[in-house]
Amino acid sequence: MKAVDAVIRSRLSSDVVLIRQVAEYIISAGGKRLRPALVLFVAGATDYRGTQHHELAAVVEFIHTATLLHDDVVDESDLRRGNRTANAMFGNAAAVLVGDFLYSRAFQMMVAVDNMRVMKVLSDATNTIAEGEVLQLMNCHNADIDVEDYLRVIRYKTAKLFEAASQLGGILGGADAILEAELARFGMHLGTAFQLIDDVLDYSGDESTTGKHLGDDLAEGKPTLPLIHAMKYGSASQSAAVRKAIETGGREDFPAVLDAIRSTDALAEARDRAGKEAALALDALDRLPASTYKDSLVQLSNFAVARNY
Ligand code: IPE
Ligand code: IPE
Ligand code: MG
Ligand code: MG
Repeated sequence: MKAVDAVIRSRLSSDVVLIRQVAEYIISAGGKRLRPALVLFVAGATDYRGTQHHELAAVVEFIHTATLLHDDVVDESDLRRGNRTANAMFGNAAAVLVGDFLYSRAFQMMVAVDNMRVMKVLSDATNTIAEGEVLQLMNCHNADIDVEDYLRVIRYKTAKLFEAASQLGGILGGADAILEAELARFGMHLGTAFQLIDDVLDYSGDESTTGKHLGDDLAEGKPTLPLIHAMKYGSASQSAAVRKAIETGGREDFPAVLDAIRSTDALAEARDRAGKEAALALDALDRLPASTYKDSLVQLSNFAVARNY
């Protein structure tokens, strides 16, 4: 991960001062770096011996960071990684444009790796993430979204990059076609579990631990699983309160929504679903030979569900 960090730092260079400022601002705030870790663990588990995994791990983190810069503009979020978001600090225009810089820098780096399969995985993933974010935008303020619609959004916007990260590790390690597909499936289920918990933390997290504001999803009228569950199993008045909160957005209805979420055990249901996704992720590792890297992949799956940040 130190080597990855060195790649990240060196590839942030630009003659344009504002790019360095904004990019370094968000990147130096850290983040969990789970997606690059995933590339490294899978590359290790498939016995890769070169150094391209450092480059690809940095590519994946750049793509992730670009989506965060854009996502915080779209979500009008003002706290990320315990700091003010880039859009809050530098304005929406700078955040969007530096996000574009990071995306395109990621593509320059990926082309330098000079492997057509790698380019296909990453360009497909990036395109799917964009579809997921747009799909989510279309679903905002729609209280009739069902669990399948919701799962589609989170597979696209979040799980796809975990899938790509895991698959890239396998491609570097020379995994056969079956193992490569299993590694992709591992990442997809891991990423789905990860976003399910992110959506739980938006209602129950501790802001000083997550580094993000609670209630951002409700403020945007996002129909996430806790709300879908609370509408389905709450009393008539609870369902109506959640429906209204989704339709109007804002933070005024947060207490009423929390009440509906609590009394329907909606967060436990979402955690349970995340646990099932993590179990499916572990199943997908069956073909992978035992190693300390594989152990780390198992730990990563457990962390995705048990985490509080
Ligand atoms: C945040 O991802 C965006 C989601 C997909 C939920 P992370 O929780 O991995 O963000 P950092 O990189 O650790 O800040
Ligand atoms: C994940 O969704 C966003 C991306 C995949 C870009 P969220 O909007 O829930 O992520 P946070 O909570 O802002 O990190
Ligand atoms: Mg967001
Ligand atoms: Mg979130």
